[in-house]
Amino acid sequence: MQQSNEQLEAGVTREPFGQLPDGTQVDVLVLTNDDGMVVRAITYGGIITSLRVPDRNGQLDDIVLGYDHLEGYLEESPYFGAIIGRYGNRIAGGRFALDGQTHTLATNNGPNHLHGGITGFDKVLWQAEPFEKGDSVGVTFSYTSRDGEEGYPGNLDVRVTYTLTAANKLVFDYYAVTDRPTPVNLTQHSYFNLAGDGSGDILGHHLTINADHFTPVDSTLIPTGAIAPVAGTPFDFRSATAIGARIDLDEEQLRYGLGYDHNFVLKRGDSALTHAARVYDPQTGRLMEVYTTEPGIQFYAGNFLDGSITGKAGHVYRRRYGFCLETQHFPDSPNKAEFPSTILRPGDEYRSTTTYVFGIRP
Ligand code: GLA
Repeated sequence: MQQSNEQLEAGVTREPFGQLPDGTQVDVLVLTNDDGMVVRAITYGGIITSLRVPDRNGQLDDIVLGYDHLEGYLEESPYFGAIIGRYGNRIAGGRFALDGQTHTLATNNGPNHLHGGITGFDKVLWQAEPFEKGDSVGVTFSYTSRDGEEGYPGNLDVRVTYTLTAANKLVFDYYAVTDRPTPVNLTQHSYFNLAGDGSGDILGHHLTINADHFTPVDSTLIPTGAIAPVAGTPFDFRSATAIGARIDLDEEQLRYGLGYDHNFVLKRGDSALTHAARVYDPQTGRLMEVYTTEPGIQFYAGNFLDGSITGKAGHVYRRRYGFCLETQHFPDSPNKAEFPSTILRPGDEYRSTTTYVFGIRP
């Protein structure tokens, strides 16, 4: 038997993964199901370091980008596999007004605030509580973000649960409560390559996004406020299209994003969980479906990867070697009254669910 197909017993285990510079231990939680699917997630950033999924021949491969060791994540990571918060994506000028008061956030992306700031939820230590429930296994990560952290108002108690089911579903449940009104927009920043980590670019993957509209951006990737139709643009993924088919067209939005780095407005049906996206890799037959309760999804094609990062097993991550599908509220919502609100108030609960379902096509 090939080592890569070594079957672990279904369940959840916890092992040491590394140490922070101050000596604090970081653990890895290993979730395994009966199909041989394995999710590894660490207590630093809730980062998914590895996700092993069968292909059409039953071959298990790791389909997410990342590092073998904690040091990689500490030194330089473009949010590989991490929980993103308090606010996924950008807030213009690192500033927003709420109930008549202006709040100033860390600016860490040109003039803007990105992914929660300098020390976002991707760079903090989370408490981890593993669990087994029926034929599912999982871990609940929890973290308290202090009043004033990265400029945000209010103490925010956050819980993010990762559940792996026997049916190869990976479910993310987000929960938060606050003691002062604050924006909250949590997401997960795994970079996928359905052909296997480090195997090449993702331009041949076929993508479908259930969106008639997207939110065009300015040159600093802040939404203009427009809700633009995808029809007749390279952003029309309503039927399956290779990611690479139109990515390098000479078009303003693609120039700004250096390719796709845009929020799509999901077409919502009656059920709470909307089918958001599907990705299919013809080479390996792997299929990934995304369902979410969120109104939007950021499709990022790994445009900023430039070969300067060497990740797992010595793999060099070149341009577009991975894609992200980050379910979310729209970028810069705290400054856009016309977008669905991201403000959480004391007494209210923030709840959000996203499911990635992994399968194959023969
Ligand atoms: C998100 C952003 C991108 C980029 C990546 C990480 O997708 O929209 O602009 O920051 O995260 O590099």
